[in-house]
Amino acid sequence: MGARQQGWWQKNFFPDFRPLFDMISPRQTNAEARYIIEKMNLRPGRKFLDCPCGIGRIALPLAKKGIRVTGVDITTSYLEELQSKAKRRGLKIECIERDMRLIDFNEKFDAAGNLGTSFGYFENQSDDLLTLKKAYRALKPGGKFLLHVTNRDWIIAHFVPRDWSEIKGLKVIQKRTFDYEKSIIRSTWVFARDGREQDYQVDIRVYSCHEIIKMFARTGFVDIQTFGTTTDEPIDRNQRMMFIFGTRPKASGR
Ligand SMILES: C[S@@+](CC[C@H](N)C(=O)[O-])C[C@H]1O[C@@H](n2cnc3c(N)ncnc32)[C@H](O)[C@@H]1O
Repeated sequence: MGARQQGWWQKNFFPDFRPLFDMISPRQTNAEARYIIEKMNLRPGRKFLDCPCGIGRIALPLAKKGIRVTGVDITTSYLEELQSKAKRRGLKIECIERDMRLIDFNEKFDAAGNLGTSFGYFENQSDDLLTLKKAYRALKPGGKFLLHVTNRDWIIAHFVPRDWSEIKGLKVIQKRTFDYEKSIIRSTWVFARDGREQDYQVDIRVYSCHEIIKMFARTGFVDIQTFGTTTDEPIDRNQRMMFIFGTRPKASGR
């Protein structure tokens, strides 16, 4: 499986990336949280697995609605931030530091999500499928799963080989190429602050909607539904993100 191999996501990339979460507007995050609650029928007391949860962008608003959230992530500082925010807000969120391929829940959750482009990180494509299988196993029969991920067709239609942004004194430069044989965006990320620079090579495998549907079906999910926005617009090449839902069948032997 290669879990012991050092991936870009295990280095200091995510701690350095942290300020970029502040570029996502609260409006967008709230719309996503509301959408998840509605689409997944998440009532107070229901159990939700947020894997990987990051700094709790979605875990926190869900917990605020009384949903019992378990957050899994590999970045220690993110889980610490999530725990301290939850504590300050009087919320209880279970946090587990683990590689998403190594979670071992069995029929525990009413719903689960891999959200905010946390998919396609692994060198071997079989590990992407493994993360779906682990999420499937974590669900109670009848439980729902959401993959919220960038749309490959949007990337191809709007490919930008170089861009940069700046937030709170941190300059972030990205240089990208697209590997068409493997459907991988190969990027160099440069984080620059106070005259110091740190760069990372980041490879992310990206998928089109029909490929994810196939992977969902192979995993065992049924009732697969796809949307391009939180207002249920269909996916096309102008939708940057995809919301793909699947359900673990009520009677399943997997
Ligand atoms: C783009 S962030 C998204 C976080 C969150 N889902 C959100 O929507 O804000 C990706 C997250 O994946 C986590 N991550 C990366 N590789 C991981 C792995 N192998 N296992 C678990 N978490 C991982 C990172 O630490 C980071 O928090």
